Amino acid sequence: MSGNPTSREQSFLVTGGVRLAGEISVTGAKNSVLKLMAVALMAEGRTTLTNCPNISDVPAMADVLRHLGCTVEISGDTVVIDTPAEVGHVADDKAAQRLRASVCILGPLVGRQHRAVLAMPGGDAIGSRPLDMHQRGLTTLGATTRMDHGRLVAEARDLRGARYALTFPSVGATETFVTAAVLAKGTSVLENAAREPEIVDICDLLSQMGAVISGAGSSTITIEGVDQLRPVSHRVIGDRIVAATWAMGAAMTRGDVTVTGIDPMFIHVVLEKLHAVGAVVDTGTDWIRVAQTERPRASNIRTLPFPGFPTDLQPMAIAMASVSDGLSVVTENIFESRFRFVEEMVRMGADAETDGHHAKIRGKERLDSATVWASDIRAGAGLVLAGMCADRVTEVCQIFHIDRGYPHFVENIRSLGGVIERVDT
Ligand code: EPU
Repeated sequence: MSGNPTSREQSFLVTGGVRLAGEISVTGAKNSVLKLMAVALMAEGRTTLTNCPNISDVPAMADVLRHLGCTVEISGDTVVIDTPAEVGHVADDKAAQRLRASVCILGPLVGRQHRAVLAMPGGDAIGSRPLDMHQRGLTTLGATTRMDHGRLVAEARDLRGARYALTFPSVGATETFVTAAVLAKGTSVLENAAREPEIVDICDLLSQMGAVISGAGSSTITIEGVDQLRPVSHRVIGDRIVAATWAMGAAMTRGDVTVTGIDPMFIHVVLEKLHAVGAVVDTGTDWIRVAQTERPRASNIRTLPFPGFPTDLQPMAIAMASVSDGLSVVTENIFESRFRFVEEMVRMGADAETDGHHAKIRGKERLDSATVWASDIRAGAGLVLAGMCADRVTEVCQIFHIDRGYPHFVENIRSLGGVIERVDT
């Protein structure tokens, strides 16, 4: 599992006028597996994660853990993390800056080692991503935090259970608080917690390891501190964003795609939207099918924390609106810079403009093929879907972003009848 080290210099050539059809399976969620890998820091011994996606962020996270003293083996869809009795507490700057998810070592390290030093993490350029709520969560539990030469330093003599209310249900701040509170003394309560399925997955792993947590998946999570955790095996939940990307691709290309390996409840709101634009949507316990015959109808979409429409699918929503019948309004409520994507869509002839948090898009029958630039993982996937609805061949540049989050991207698109090629630029 290596991603593609040269994809910084590669592009995708995407041929327009295709229809996506067939069956495809999704593997584990990027935004779960990276956090579960960090949770492995909390227990001495071998933690085994299965159903892991083949994306470049997984070996990047493995590097972060190796620099802290863990041994990490990646083989097929399995990641085994062997955590020593004593782990380091200073993250390697460059390893940590390669991915946003490195922030999720904070809670486990402060919980177990009572200290952590972490360079401000990198990741996608999708808007300002402060760590104030992470810091406030840790200080509520009794830690001190400060910035020192570009690194966040968190220290605690003892962590004590406490009540903390987030001002916004941040996914990352919820994870930091819960992981730190698991090894604190006494009871902690997190209010206005994020409710994303990936939070539930992390709490499931922690509970199997011996943590005492209730309320995961609701707005109030209660954690009874325990002295130590034990390593276990755990299967990562399916990637709802990847699954929904194929579902939206089916609707945009008037195709018929069945996605397996996903709980439909994870993308309930997305499926409702697809039904509203004219798709036939079927679901089973771990699969969804989306079939579209007519041009999608225009629709209004607002991104919101789970269970609302995910910000990670906002580019796909704009791409779909660009070929829908009528005027759509897409409102971004989480990451302000994600509308950079609209500029790329305009290169493809989309009739779109932004006004603050809103993008207004008047759909066209067909987009123009063009050379466009992926600015983050999801923008990249949105541009590839748009390219399938263009007249000729679209070049999507900077595809290393896509390799960070979409496993076997080319093979998967080809298996659905899409025409895509990876080329050196
Ligand atoms: N925020 C703060 N202060 C904080 C933390 C967050 O102001 O201390 C703000 C952010 O600036 C943002 C909002 O709160 O405006 C939501 O951020 P959140 O913390 O929920 O996001 P995150 O944990 O940084 C994760 C995913 C993102 C996904 C968001 C929202 C990972 C590694 N990343 O980010 O995924 O968009 O939740 O669902 O889990 C992606 O996969 O492409 C991606 C960007």
